[in-house]
Amino acid sequence: MYGTRRGTLRFLLIASGCSMLGKSVAVRYAQTAAAAAVQPRIKKFQVYRWDPDTPGDKPRMQTYEIDLNLCGPMVLDALIKIKNEMDSTLTFRRSCREGICGSCAMNINGGNTLACLDKIDSNLSKPTKIYPLPHMYVVKDLVPDMSNFYAQYKSIEPYLKKRDDSKEGKEQYLQSVEDRQKLDGLYECILCACCSTSCPSYWWNADKYLGPAVLMQAYRWMIDSRDEFTEERLSKLQDPFSLYRCHTIMNCTRTCPKGLNPGKAIAEIKKMMATYKEKKAAAV
Ligand code: SF4
Ligand code: SF4
Ligand code: FES
Repeated sequence: MYGTRRGTLRFLLIASGCSMLGKSVAVRYAQTAAAAAVQPRIKKFQVYRWDPDTPGDKPRMQTYEIDLNLCGPMVLDALIKIKNEMDSTLTFRRSCREGICGSCAMNINGGNTLACLDKIDSNLSKPTKIYPLPHMYVVKDLVPDMSNFYAQYKSIEPYLKKRDDSKEGKEQYLQSVEDRQKLDGLYECILCACCSTSCPSYWWNADKYLGPAVLMQAYRWMIDSRDEFTEERLSKLQDPFSLYRCHTIMNCTRTCPKGLNPGKAIAEIKKMMATYKEKKAAAV
């Protein structure tokens, strides 16, 4: 009796073990069959590489192959996949991965844009070419040196300036809805520098010409109804380079990944400057 019950138990255990084994084999078979059914979609990515810490290293393009079935849809997804799974030495900046921080700006297939907003071209016969932002010093691989750009941004004093700052710290600097609306299309700039580094005038005179991104922010503070230093802000741009190196080529507006119009902002500053100069001449 006891022997029979033990035999039954053994049979049940073996039977349930068999069925579990059978299930896992079936699942694995189904997964293998599904993987075999989906054809790999291999895409080549040619990426600019240069490492200043490797003596004698020269800039070169390195090719990586990625199966697009196993990768997210954006160019930044491909770069992250390369770094995580294929080559941890690849260096690039990124943070938000949703077009907010501006750090993943680079040149992709000939245009400056944000890698996190740029969809991978699904044409498998065409490699995607990725370079750092053009005409910038390179720190490593896809990382440009932004020091000059940030110094120029600092130079325009990108903050509210009042003659009387005794109210500082209190919420007293009010603005009408209409005045606030004048800042639309300007305040959204994420300072990615895609526009400035697409501008030929900026390429050749980056030390003296402020470039579209910084000029658009200068304009943003000039027309802020709460700011009281508009004339001083204009007077700082009177030299032949800071503002007037813009020749309205409009590469800047064409390339902005946020759909902004720095070219128009520069044209508006030039108009304000003309009025300011007339006023100054009349006062003499
Ligand atoms: S419009 Fe001015 S700032 Fe924009 S690309 Fe042309 S020259 Fe550069
Ligand atoms: S204007 Fe556009 S391209 Fe230029 S820095 Fe701002 S967000 Fe970037
Ligand atoms: S990662 Fe922030 S804008 Fe692309």
